[in-house]
Amino acid sequence: MDCKVELKMRGPLFWSLFLLLELHPCNGDLSYSLSEETKRGHAVGDLAKDLGLDAKTLAARNARLDDSSKRYADLNLNTGDLIVAETMDREMLCGSRMNCILNYEIVLENPLEVHRVSLNIDDINDNAPKFLNERITFEIHESAAKGQRFRLDEARDSDIGQNGVNGYSLQRNDHFSLFVHDNKNGRKYAELVLDKELDREQQKDIDLILTAVDGGNPQRSGTATIHITVLDANDNVPVFSQPVYKVSLAENAPLGAEVVTVSATDADEGANGAVSYEFSNIADDAAQLFTINKVTGQMKVSGDIDYEKEAYYEIGVQAKDGSGLASTANVIIDISDINDNAPKIMLTSLKNPIPENAAVGTEVAIINVQDKDSAENRQIRCSIQQNVPFKLNPSIKNYFSLVTTSPLDREKEADYNITITATDGGSPPLSSFKTIHISISDVNDNPPVFEEPSYNAYVAENNKPGTSICSVTARDPDWRQNGTVLYSLVSSEVNGVPVSSFLSINADTGVIHAVRSFDYEQFRNFKVQVVARDNGSPPLSSNATVSVFITDENDNSPQILYPAPEGKSLMTEMVPKAALSGSLVSKVIAVDADSGQNAWLSYHIVKSTDPGLFSIGLHSGEIRAQRDISESDSMKQNLVISVKDNGQPALSTSCSVYLLISDNLAEVPELKDMTYEESSSKLTSYLIIALVSVSTFFLTFIILILAVRFCRRRKPRLLFDGAVAIPSAYLPPNYAEVEGAGTLRSSYNYDAYLTTGSHTSDFKFIRSYNDNTLPATLTLKGNHIYLVQKLLGFIAAVYLI
Ligand SMILES: *[C@@H]1O[C@H](CO)[C@@H](O)[C@H](O)[C@H]1NC(C)=O
Ligand SMILES: *[C@@H]1O[C@H](CO)[C@@H](O)[C@H](O)[C@H]1NC(C)=O
Ligand SMILES: *[C@@H]1O[C@H](CO)[C@@H](O)[C@H](O)[C@H]1NC(C)=O
Repeated sequence: MDCKVELKMRGPLFWSLFLLLELHPCNGDLSYSLSEETKRGHAVGDLAKDLGLDAKTLAARNARLDDSSKRYADLNLNTGDLIVAETMDREMLCGSRMNCILNYEIVLENPLEVHRVSLNIDDINDNAPKFLNERITFEIHESAAKGQRFRLDEARDSDIGQNGVNGYSLQRNDHFSLFVHDNKNGRKYAELVLDKELDREQQKDIDLILTAVDGGNPQRSGTATIHITVLDANDNVPVFSQPVYKVSLAENAPLGAEVVTVSATDADEGANGAVSYEFSNIADDAAQLFTINKVTGQMKVSGDIDYEKEAYYEIGVQAKDGSGLASTANVIIDISDINDNAPKIMLTSLKNPIPENAAVGTEVAIINVQDKDSAENRQIRCSIQQNVPFKLNPSIKNYFSLVTTSPLDREKEADYNITITATDGGSPPLSSFKTIHISISDVNDNPPVFEEPSYNAYVAENNKPGTSICSVTARDPDWRQNGTVLYSLVSSEVNGVPVSSFLSINADTGVIHAVRSFDYEQFRNFKVQVVARDNGSPPLSSNATVSVFITDENDNSPQILYPAPEGKSLMTEMVPKAALSGSLVSKVIAVDADSGQNAWLSYHIVKSTDPGLFSIGLHSGEIRAQRDISESDSMKQNLVISVKDNGQPALSTSCSVYLLISDNLAEVPELKDMTYEESSSKLTSYLIIALVSVSTFFLTFIILILAVRFCRRRKPRLLFDGAVAIPSAYLPPNYAEVEGAGTLRSSYNYDAYLTTGSHTSDFKFIRSYNDNTLPATLTLKGNHIYLVQKLLGFIAAVYLI
């Protein structure tokens, strides 16, 4: 310790308060000295400076004094000084031990730093010497020889060293002087030496004051009275069997256990030889623990022997005979340590909770373990259970830091109970446990994950707007808002229309609804991206594709492309007279806007002029002769074909096919009789009704005109006023097409088509009736003659048909 710095200070405290400060900054550990009884608040030393720390950082680093015993010193976090927290009494703290040292540990966090500080408590002379018995009695024969010595009780002073008993003095007298001995252990005791023979007849009792002084400054003293009775007879001093009794005693020895039996013998007989034992010099604490049997000299345990309090006792024992002659012996008791203190685990700091993204090696807790026992009984092994992502790192001086060993995941394990086991090296070893609960706090580290990467939704066309078509689910294992999933659609377009006008999604449930009714015939499927986003900050998201398939419903009936439906045109197929059985005559072509079964068409003949003559392919629609055509077959053949799809329920359309068995186009004019063969009866009745009504109307009209002529002067006004339209419904359905606001088309064209798939390359034509043009509306106005002319024209036209 060549770099030891010694500071001496003279304090203004009471008597000669004398403060010795010693610093040993070289070895990292600090040591200070301080006089006992120093007042509270006194700064012992500038700890921060001595440790090379900035006093301002102390509070931030949670600097503190960890002490295993009582708290006599403290750390001033503002100044960095080590201060006295409680007045210390060295005698109470350390008894008769020469060195009185309090050990402290300064703990700093971030990073963990531990420094040991020892505080030497220096003795001051605050105790006076004291005799155990304030009255010492001797019985001395007058025959006692000059120079005979009588051992005196030692005085005790709780102070140590220089402040302990330093000398004795005897009141001035004629017979005795004092001889002071140095004990082996440095203490002093005195013997009374007879300088001048006693004479009982002259003085029967002698009282002397014995004074013990210490070496302190100022000096303190204590006194005892020596009472000497001068006797007539002669006797012997008791003699101990050993000058020193050295015994070992296990701590925690039961009450009443024997420590040692001292014995002294006295050669005298009777009362002079009866020896009694007592403690002549015993420390206050030891006096609580041991007793001595006055008669037998047996020392017994009478209190709790605790190695951790005191490991060594030295007790003076005195044997005295009936006449007061005494001798002393020392009993030295070594207390042996028993492993009676389990290690103590102290949690000095704990970070809780720790975020799940804490880096590997993050310090979670600092633990301090202590064991009051000694030697291997205080060797501590510390461990935690397996299978946790934590380990204990031995740090400095019985400190351990608990650090993480692998990444944490709150979603797998949200909290840990770490059990720390500390076992000492005693036999049997003692263990203690401490469980620390560590919670892992959430970090938004999981995006929502869809249960499936893509979803297919099937929705039948013609659905009701608002129907739910499918539901998507994403899971996010994070905590609270970090795991709350919100759904939305990615905006995109389907056929140029924003997807939001087709679908909507419930943000909370993920249920997707159709916003409108879909039409399979418009589009059959589309795709949309769904995003699941959590509520963390920043949020995480993932997406999935929803393919929406619109399924067909049988909502379209078959549409016949050929022959053109009735009402559009009038088509006739020519069939050669020589057509053989199986020859293709015509073909019905139909389509269905639906698909699949709903568009799978079948063709049936529902009505025919000659049922055995023609057949139709069930799925091809081809009309073929079933047998050879013969002369006897009617020239005009008429088929009604029904086209049906395979939907559920099936939809059908029918059409008529007009066939003309002929090789000669000259026969064509006859067509008009044939084409209306079916509706001719209806038409005839229309014509009859029309004729009758027109005739009646005409007659009535003539009568009316005549009547008007006759009654001109009497009735100047017309009977009929306003406009009356002739309803076009009375016109034959195929007569003409109606255009615009009911005007009859003025001209008709021949439409020629090539029939598909027919080997008889026929043509069909439409008969035009353009000769018979009529204005659509006929009004009864002033010019009656004109009207009549027109009506007559109309009737003529009807007759022509
Ligand atoms: C930890 O201990 C507490 C209380 O004893 C208990 O409620 C919790 O479930 C334990 N946790 C684990 C992960 O064992
Ligand atoms: C969510 O995660 C963030 C970090 O991503 C975290 O700060 C927050 O505390 C978490 N919220 C909850 C409720 O755990
Ligand atoms: C959807 O996810 C894919 C990959 O997972 C990503 O590339 C794409 O950008 C995401 N789209 C949206 C709109 O978030």
